[in-house]
Amino acid sequence: IKNIGVFTSGGDSPGMNAAIRAVVRTALYHDLQVTGIRRGYEGMINGDYEPMNRKSVSNIIQRGGTILKSARSTDFQTPEGRKLAFFQLKKHKIDALVAIGGDGTFTGAKLLGEEHDIPVIGLPGTIDNDLIGTDFTIGYDTAINTVVNAVDKIRDTAESHDRLFIVEVMGRDSGLIALRTGVASGAESVLLPETDLGLDALMYRLEHGRKDKSSRIVIVAEGEREGGAFEIGDIVKAKFPNIDTRVSILGHIQRGGRPTCMDRVLASRLGYAAVEALKEGRRGEMLGVIHGEIAYTPFEKAIKHSPEINKTMVKIVEVLSL
Ligand code: F6P
Repeated sequence: IKNIGVFTSGGDSPGMNAAIRAVVRTALYHDLQVTGIRRGYEGMINGDYEPMNRKSVSNIIQRGGTILKSARSTDFQTPEGRKLAFFQLKKHKIDALVAIGGDGTFTGAKLLGEEHDIPVIGLPGTIDNDLIGTDFTIGYDTAINTVVNAVDKIRDTAESHDRLFIVEVMGRDSGLIALRTGVASGAESVLLPETDLGLDALMYRLEHGRKDKSSRIVIVAEGEREGGAFEIGDIVKAKFPNIDTRVSILGHIQRGGRPTCMDRVLASRLGYAAVEALKEGRRGEMLGVIHGEIAYTPFEKAIKHSPEINKTMVKIVEVLSL
């Protein structure tokens, strides 16, 4: 290989810039060229390419977002769109790719690699942590710390006013952000898309649990139900009019901000490993870190969605808030 294309796609996550930097600098170290593809698959199709040098990735390791920008492309979901993308890649003499993103990104990468002759290596960049093949995704650690900081602030005002807060966190298909932040913020209950027992458990607690609590925090993953935290708020208010209840949606604040040390190190290790993997002739795999070691997972397995929810963690939330 002579020229590696690198791009970010789907929802952005803190640490993507550190990953881009690692890919670019490692490739240049090996005397390979690197081309940045802007706006994900959309830009790949439209020819939005820029040659990268050491300077193009200066001063970005600490920045949230992605300097290459990101997008979700519907055109790339069709074989014609992917053909067009491959044509552009050849035109720009790109002969290998590093794709940074989540399940949508790897679904596209898998199809591109199957239909056209180009090696693709994926790096897990999503705050949701919902990929098989890595203990943590790039951005998850920053996002959960953002959530915990926000909930600590909500806890202050909840305590002052003797209120219950229902806090909605991100996770369209996954409760991993909700579960971990629920433990870390001392939540009363967590409501996750993976189980439908959360609301019943919460109602039971409010009816039969301790009455001397001054503040209560409930963490809900956005994908738990269509109506999200507001719907849960209405149910709680209707059944317990004496509990002063408020709803707070944390939203896209969770996707931004300076990446934590953990995310920067993970992104740097994976970006370095991605170039090494391409040099070794690997393709069609997502790289991750499992038990401290680099792990290689075929795309079709990585996108099979959430690792199972750890039931003991759910129990820990419950027991520790009794
Ligand atoms: O990429 C993951 C995620 O953070 C989901 O948890 C969330 O539902 C989604 O992105 C929202 O993304 P957007 O606002 O870009 O549609």
